[in-house]
Amino acid sequence: MKKLLLTVLLCGAISCVMGQEQKKVTATDVQMTLHNKATSTQRIPKEIYGHFAEHLGRCIYGGIWVGEKSEIPNEKGYRVDVLEALRALKVPVLRWPGGCFADEYHWMDGIGPREKRPKMVNTNWGGTVEDNSFGTHEFLNFCELLGCEPYVNGNVGSGSVEEMAKWVEYMTSDADSPMANLRRENGRDKPWKVKYFGVGNENWGCGGNMYPEYYSDLYRRYATFCKNYSGNRLYRIACGASDYDYNWTDVLMRRVGRQMQGLSLHYYSVLDWGRKGSATDFNSDDWYAVMGKCSEVETVIKRHCEIMDRYDPTRRIDLILDEWGTWWNVEPGTNPGHLYQQNTLRDAMVAAVSLNIFHKYTYRLKMANIAQMVNVLQSVILTRDDEMVLTPTYHLFKMYIPHQGAEYLPLHYESKQLRDKNNRVVNTLSATASRADDGTVTITLANVDLESDCRITIALDDDKKYDVSGSILTSKNITDHNTFENPECIKTVKYDDFKSQKGSVEVVLPTKSIVTLTLK
Ligand code: AHR
Repeated sequence: MKKLLLTVLLCGAISCVMGQEQKKVTATDVQMTLHNKATSTQRIPKEIYGHFAEHLGRCIYGGIWVGEKSEIPNEKGYRVDVLEALRALKVPVLRWPGGCFADEYHWMDGIGPREKRPKMVNTNWGGTVEDNSFGTHEFLNFCELLGCEPYVNGNVGSGSVEEMAKWVEYMTSDADSPMANLRRENGRDKPWKVKYFGVGNENWGCGGNMYPEYYSDLYRRYATFCKNYSGNRLYRIACGASDYDYNWTDVLMRRVGRQMQGLSLHYYSVLDWGRKGSATDFNSDDWYAVMGKCSEVETVIKRHCEIMDRYDPTRRIDLILDEWGTWWNVEPGTNPGHLYQQNTLRDAMVAAVSLNIFHKYTYRLKMANIAQMVNVLQSVILTRDDEMVLTPTYHLFKMYIPHQGAEYLPLHYESKQLRDKNNRVVNTLSATASRADDGTVTITLANVDLESDCRITIALDDDKKYDVSGSILTSKNITDHNTFENPECIKTVKYDDFKSQKGSVEVVLPTKSIVTLTLK
């Protein structure tokens, strides 16, 4: 018999879990309260649903951009299938060009006639030759087509202050100035609106291996020359910490302070950087282990927020989680430097648990960008030549659209807890709620438990009987995923195992499922 891996700390039913062999015992009962009469000033910024697209593997080339001459159906060089799928996701903001790539990117190589653009070697990501055919125009036009805010990440590590200053002028100035005129020569008369601008990426690592004191001084210098042109107001984001590096945040808050509008943070749900594990071949212990790790982002966000609160009690500087998600071994047979991984029900569950946590901290956390958009890490889309697959994470993001920009509603409940194989606490229930401007309440509930269903009674503090509708994302096996051969193995379907009455809703969440209830 497998050794006991998980210990129940608190539960409404007896359900100790032993490896994968244990049969379902019973359902867990949970009482939940939703204060839907209360008004809250906390909104869930739509930017919590942001994305990230780096020049890495097949994210840009092949994933988003195929060029106008491609046989793959495209609109001005952008894949039509991907563009349409992303439009349906209501992507609010897209970060580009990196990542580590940002600090070796020289933007002037990516403008002008494509055939004349110089090539470079992408040293961070597999030594691939980058032909610069996707540059500033291609990115900003893509954002316009998608209807999202661009978030451009500048180069501090290997670029100059002058280069960064000119980039901002090129993109945003409407004056009769050298950079604005160069942009016009390259076919774009009016400047773009660029709000979010990152001053370096991971400058404690691939972006220059700097100390926080040194980077803070560099930030002050570079950011000074990132000007507001022609009515465009830049929102400048300083490179922030990785995971548990609280000292980086402390130093940045002390030395940079209000010179930045946002301070970033990166957090990947990786258990062991040396042995990340397979994306598709794993057992229930591995499932719980990554749930424990992704839940720990709550402690990490909370502690970074506490440090920020000490220096900035009125919360004028935002926390920007501009890289997050799962990171597994690459798919067998693919370039290890291209970070191409599959995406199962487990990835969707990580996204649900993570997003539910992010909602809670939106008093300070104002943006989050999943890494990455297409074909890299926890992608919402995978492509192979002219084929496209929507991943379980895509369906999960789609399910969460009603939360974008909605009023955050606190939920009160106590979850059953387990300990994973690394002794991290795993809440088996994760939930969130919000109210849209038209009064519609959306409750999203995730049952992480592999053994027990979860029977929830949600008490509403008004006396209304709501019209409720539901949808569910789940699958038979935790390793299930969508492939090019079977692209619809996992998708969201209608769900109706709930009862609505005056003042309450009762719902049963099957094991390993995410359910959304819409109350009108
Ligand atoms: O997303 C992949 C890489 O992860 C990014 O380039 C870097 O910023 C981070 O380490």
